[in-house]
Amino acid sequence: PKKKTNFLIGMSQANLGEPWRVAMNDQIAAAASKHPELKVVFADAAQDNSKQIADVENFIQQKIDLLIISPNEAKPLTAVVKKAYDSGIPVIVLDRKVEGDAYTQYIGGDNKLIGKKAGEFVAKLLGDKGGNVVEVKGLEGATPQKERHDGFMEGIKSNPNVKIIVSQNADWLRDKAITVMESILQANKKIDVVYGHNDPAAEGAYIAAKNAKREGEMKFIGIDALPTLDGGIKAVIEGRLSATYVYPTGGKEAIDNAIKILKNGEKVEKSITLDTVEVTKNNAADVYKQFGGK
Ligand code: FRU
Repeated sequence: PKKKTNFLIGMSQANLGEPWRVAMNDQIAAAASKHPELKVVFADAAQDNSKQIADVENFIQQKIDLLIISPNEAKPLTAVVKKAYDSGIPVIVLDRKVEGDAYTQYIGGDNKLIGKKAGEFVAKLLGDKGGNVVEVKGLEGATPQKERHDGFMEGIKSNPNVKIIVSQNADWLRDKAITVMESILQANKKIDVVYGHNDPAAEGAYIAAKNAKREGEMKFIGIDALPTLDGGIKAVIEGRLSATYVYPTGGKEAIDNAIKILKNGEKVEKSITLDTVEVTKNNAADVYKQFGGK
């Protein structure tokens, strides 16, 4: 048989309404544009698990050659990812995980490590006096939510005076974080640190605190560190966030590996872990440049 020369990739995105996911799709499109033999079609599940299942079913029917998926939540997406994989479609899972191991490759940052670094930062920031921490968490069924929480708990262990007084979901969304933080502020007189599971959560909490004229009483920590004008690195430079952590999207790595799988028939590593960088006012300007911020 003639060797296949053109490949169709289906990219199933959890929610394009979030800036970090727009960056992921952009990086996938940019990397793919260097390979004229690749065509990528994108689907956006808008944070709806059933929509994302339908998107993948649709891709299977379209006979895509490879699936890239960043699953909204792990459990609900596991079966359809397995279905694609079992039908012979290579699957690259990005950033959030599914359950089990019915996929070709997972690419993502080390969320547990990032949470741990954030915890250590807070333990040091609060020092011997310790203090009260509010945790604004990500979407309950998304794996980075649990990993960022578990890592943080480990990171603060060294300082017994650090207390998590509230831990609440804001589903990764800035607007939801504003609402959630409004009631937290009302119920709690003394808050020293807000740990947001992503920068939109931290920024949303900051907005709520500022509206209540209390933003000066507490420090804000986020995760993502997008090198954009409204991203987390700028928020550190501008003093709203005390720290954020680079969480690479893996978009370019996904295309690099798709090429290995599709064109070269290579067997790729089961898991690729992407590096992080702690961003504070000491290095924020440098990191911004280093990651191509304009
Ligand atoms: C975007 C996002 C990022 C976060 C990642 C975790 O949807 O919430 O902000 O780092 O997903 O999966």
